Amino acid sequence: NVKSWEGSRCSFGQVKGVPLLEPTVQNWELVENFRAQPDDLLIATYPKAGTTWTQEIVDLILNDGDAEKCRRALTHKRMPFLEMFPVPPLKVCQLDKMPSPRVIKTHLPIQLVPQSFWDNNCKVIYMARNAKDSVVSYFYFDRMNRIQPDPGPWDQYLHKFMHGQLFCGYWYDHVKGYWREKETKRILYLLYEDMKENPRDEVIRVMRFLEHSLPDDIIDRITELTSFSTMKENPMANYSTIPDSVFDRSVSTFMRKGEVGDWLNHFSPEESRLFDEHYEKMMSGTSIPFRTQL
Ligand code: A3P
Repeated sequence: NVKSWEGSRCSFGQVKGVPLLEPTVQNWELVENFRAQPDDLLIATYPKAGTTWTQEIVDLILNDGDAEKCRRALTHKRMPFLEMFPVPPLKVCQLDKMPSPRVIKTHLPIQLVPQSFWDNNCKVIYMARNAKDSVVSYFYFDRMNRIQPDPGPWDQYLHKFMHGQLFCGYWYDHVKGYWREKETKRILYLLYEDMKENPRDEVIRVMRFLEHSLPDDIIDRITELTSFSTMKENPMANYSTIPDSVFDRSVSTFMRKGEVGDWLNHFSPEESRLFDEHYEKMMSGTSIPFRTQL
């Protein structure tokens, strides 16, 4: 039933208590046994943290700011999504055929990342976004993405987010998991809000992590090419070629707003209060400097 998911929403299964889409769960062994190589770069995020943005920055750095080279293929072809099915062959099988060095996207929480990435001491770039903007972005995405389980109304969706019932489980565990390991593994931890506030500085951090050195004018160009307004118009990076049967653009576009603080337009004061209370409990003892407004 290769095509059975197309245009119809999946249900969740679980791997080690984490909700993942059923086809991924059914093929979990392939993901778990994925053979990473030492020069693989993993871009990891909780959904809607700015994955695509990070991917475009990385690809431009690796290609010395050459925009044409980065338009060689769509984002998900250039940097495949490890645990996404859709077919056979699974992305993991496509990845086996990809030349090195490979850049791979994942939304898996750190405990589900295939062990071979750690055995090979692979570099990981983790991008995190504040919880309130993440859930708003995720809500629009789950409404428009007809592969994801039905999100239901906003208030119920917010409850599911807070209780780890969305794809990839708890946001809180996800961001904390990579944060905890960032000193012992080769993890560069980025924040969406820092990237918005000062994109050029963050591009430089990524460049240094990748052990690249580029002249100032190329860094400027990469910063400009990865601005929201430029990426929104780039068909190779804005998911505009995904068919309407999968991404329902009458609901939302993939490149939706790209702002910090849009949650203010969606949370009621009471929702915000309850969310903050719960957040304090879930995040107690951690020091990740998230900001919900700039
Ligand atoms: P919004 O829904 O808030 O607009 P991901 O790639 O992880 O799925 O994240 C998608 C979110 O990142 C969307 O957020 C999208 O608009 C935003 N985004 C994508 N590219 C961006 C960029 N260049 N600058 C700022 N935000 C960007």
